[in-house]
Amino acid sequence: MELLTDIPVKRVYRSRVMEVDFNNLEFGKYVSDHMLVCDFKAGEWQLPVIVPYANLSMSPASLALHYGQTVFEGMKAFRMHDGHINIFRLEKHYERFARSLERMCMAVPPQEMFTEGLLKLVSTDKSWVPQQAGCSLYLRPFVFASEARFGVKISDEYRFIIITGPVPELYAKPIRVKVETNYVRAAKGGTGFAKCGGNYGGAYYPTQLARKQGYDQVLWTDAKENKFIEESGMMNVMFVLNNKLVTPPLSDSILDGITRDSLLTLAAGLGYETEERPVSIAELENAFRNNTIREAFGAGTAAVVAPIDTICIGDTDYMLPAYGPQSLLNRVKDGLQKIRLGLSEDIYGWNRVI
Ligand code: COI
Repeated sequence: MELLTDIPVKRVYRSRVMEVDFNNLEFGKYVSDHMLVCDFKAGEWQLPVIVPYANLSMSPASLALHYGQTVFEGMKAFRMHDGHINIFRLEKHYERFARSLERMCMAVPPQEMFTEGLLKLVSTDKSWVPQQAGCSLYLRPFVFASEARFGVKISDEYRFIIITGPVPELYAKPIRVKVETNYVRAAKGGTGFAKCGGNYGGAYYPTQLARKQGYDQVLWTDAKENKFIEESGMMNVMFVLNNKLVTPPLSDSILDGITRDSLLTLAAGLGYETEERPVSIAELENAFRNNTIREAFGAGTAAVVAPIDTICIGDTDYMLPAYGPQSLLNRVKDGLQKIRLGLSEDIYGWNRVI
């Protein structure tokens, strides 16, 4: 493969960035001017190109549309206080992307292409990286099966695309969640740890039911007994129980969240005890009764930290105490933001400054 720093860029004739209201961003509403596209054909990746963002032309028989071979990543780039731009935890995102693709029997773009492609795409669209507090440029690399053939088979052709767009934080207000014991997101041996499209599509129906009942998200439980908490909606979930930061352990039904990992690291750095261990519904109920649960929150790239103010278990809505600047969720969120913006030292080597 040729040197990827030579990825050709076909620039837009006129940028759309002036049309964006950066003070009123909505998640997923805006896409930046350019995208990276690269095809996998005849057993190898072709040369990537950066081109103006545009609709794709694809066969209605493309395998992804029928049997769900689609995998994505969710990453962010930040405008730092000194004006530089930084992509957060690039390597860790690549590792997860590769794991997800392998689980779905899909071609894995080489790491160099992923890295150089992101660096060049973000540099090309640097005017799209917001300066507003809490906002960032969301990066969405994805691969789908593009072979035109509707027989049930592993695709021999794939398309790797990266699109980007400016976003605010996902949940501005604390959320209400409902413990879900009728539907499951993922089971042992399934694809729960992979960022494949089907995991998200399959979650819509139970989430829609929970929304009709006045909740924002469901708290997923394990598929075998529906006794243990797994994730919260599209995020990992964390609790402060007996002053310890507790989160369910990674498994094949839980996504290896990069925000989850970052927050655990930061909490330990602040001197908190952290535990990755099963959390049962019964433990949560007891903790509410005994007043030993202080905080609950979702953790994800899009949301960063999503404070939870209500957890519904069975027919009971349990309320969490109000959060303030000293709450652990705000302390770790603040610590994360300071590293990303270059306001505190990047001691863990998380920033890839462009
Ligand atoms: C993320 O948090 O980045 C996700 O991928 C979840 C969602 C926006 C699909």
